[in-house]
Amino acid sequence: PKVTWILKDGKEITADVPVGHNLMEAAVAKNVPNVIGECGGCLSCATCHVYVDPAWYAKTGAPDDMESDMLEITVAERKPTSRLSCQIKAVPELDGLILRVPYI
Ligand code: FES
Repeated sequence: PKVTWILKDGKEITADVPVGHNLMEAAVAKNVPNVIGECGGCLSCATCHVYVDPAWYAKTGAPDDMESDMLEITVAERKPTSRLSCQIKAVPELDGLILRVPYI
């Protein structure tokens, strides 16, 4: 699926993400600033925080309990559509997905 990250200054970075990859890996591969993925995707760093575009939130789904706990310690403020992008898998249904990158 095609995924677009929107940066603070409005710049957009788009990638064709292979199905099955997670969206933290995809962001790191594309050098999306401020998506770090320090823990490698094992849900222990919260540096892969993104804001899912509200129109897409129903499709990405809400975080599970463990992810939700981690979202409490993100550096940038948690918002209603916050997710940790290592926990979002690229699936065909997410083609066109828009994520906003949090800045502090
Ligand atoms: Fe560490 Fe997502 S990469 S929690």
